[in-house]
Amino acid sequence: MPQIVLIEDNKNLNDLISINLNAYLGVDLIQQNNAADTLGLLTILPNVDLIITKDKVLNEETARIIEKYINDKNLDTTIIVLGKLRQPGPNTICVEDPREWEKIVQITAQILGLNTNDVFKNIKPEYIPMPVKYFLNLDYSCSDVFIRIRKSPTEFQFIKRIHKGDPYLKESIHRYLEQGLEYFFVPESEQKQFSIFLSNKLVEKMENPNHNLATRIQLMGDSYEVATKEIIRLGFNSETIQLTESIIANMIKNFTLDNEMANLLHKVINSKTGNLFQRCHMISIVANECMRNLKIKDMSIYEKIAFASFFHDILFLDKEQLSKINSQKELDEADLSEGDWDLVFTHALETAQFIQRHPEIPYGIDEIIKHHHGSSSGKGFSESIDTLPDVSQIFIIAHQFVHQLFAFKEGGGRPSPIVDELFKKYTAPEAIIIIKSLEKTLKKKKN
Ligand SMILES: [Fe+2]
Ligand SMILES: [Fe+2]
Repeated sequence: MPQIVLIEDNKNLNDLISINLNAYLGVDLIQQNNAADTLGLLTILPNVDLIITKDKVLNEETARIIEKYINDKNLDTTIIVLGKLRQPGPNTICVEDPREWEKIVQITAQILGLNTNDVFKNIKPEYIPMPVKYFLNLDYSCSDVFIRIRKSPTEFQFIKRIHKGDPYLKESIHRYLEQGLEYFFVPESEQKQFSIFLSNKLVEKMENPNHNLATRIQLMGDSYEVATKEIIRLGFNSETIQLTESIIANMIKNFTLDNEMANLLHKVINSKTGNLFQRCHMISIVANECMRNLKIKDMSIYEKIAFASFFHDILFLDKEQLSKINSQKELDEADLSEGDWDLVFTHALETAQFIQRHPEIPYGIDEIIKHHHGSSSGKGFSESIDTLPDVSQIFIIAHQFVHQLFAFKEGGGRPSPIVDELFKKYTAPEAIIIIKSLEKTLKKKKN
């Protein structure tokens, strides 16, 4: 049995890599937290075949430390670095984006001498993981649903827990969640059908006029997670487009139905939805408020802003904390790995290019996304936004406003008036008009 160590502190990425290596190659991984632990392990297990490691864990130069140890001891261990490394050594292979699990599986197969260039053609995992919480939005499943139980160090057994077509109780799902179970499994052959079924159910629920605002926000947050994950994994298909459009329609509807911005923001920020979704929805609410006060009537602009907010940080899906960085100073002080630094620096441009490749998305959204940190090139951050189109400036100011709200929520302390900060930051004439439009709403609230 090959010995493979995995060091990845992001839970989602860790699952993605472990589950797929196990499914395609039948290997198990020895989980380690950092370089210090791994060097300890290598003293007792010097024949480890492969170490798959994040480039940096917190402040530790994990990959560098392990590489040096392996070179010094002349060990035959290969290292796959998840991220970037300047001048990697002869035993090191870098996979810049750890979400590229197919690449990791393929390299691992080569290293283990599994002499198969077409691992994916020959071996298919029988079951695919699906987050348990997705099942809270369903009353029955279109395919059989299993839980995975470890039988031996190398074997798993799949036990059917939900029968295709049979209604199940939500309490049973809550119980699994309380016990800490994160994934159910569905047969690989039924995965696509299951995703379509789930997307359609979410659309149906979001479009039900009887749901109150809190339920609708929760449904939107869940749908956002399903839609963005599917888009990153499989690209756009008719279901993910329908799901995205329904979430966006609800973002605009929430705003028009519930007229008070502060109340709506409060409900979103205090909902049990993901951080990335909350930021997106709140940006579209604040931008809509500016546009309403600026007497913009063209509804297609409201829609564009909602689309842009939905997608603007989609590359941070597995790294939500990176979406908190909103200035060059914050980026430089964040102590990130080279790969993450680059991702933050270029994400506005890269996301805009991703959107351009998809004609399904309305025209003009890529430009707003490219500008969302103030730089016209989509690289880095800028506060001189006067040359950018008005709609980009509205988005940037709404984005900054939401960042400050979150900073206050997470950091605590006395809230300083956000508009004053905005006036200090953006001094171009158009920006001042946009900030004043927000100030109008906030002053109205006080009176
Ligand atoms: Fe961003
Ligand atoms: Fe953002």
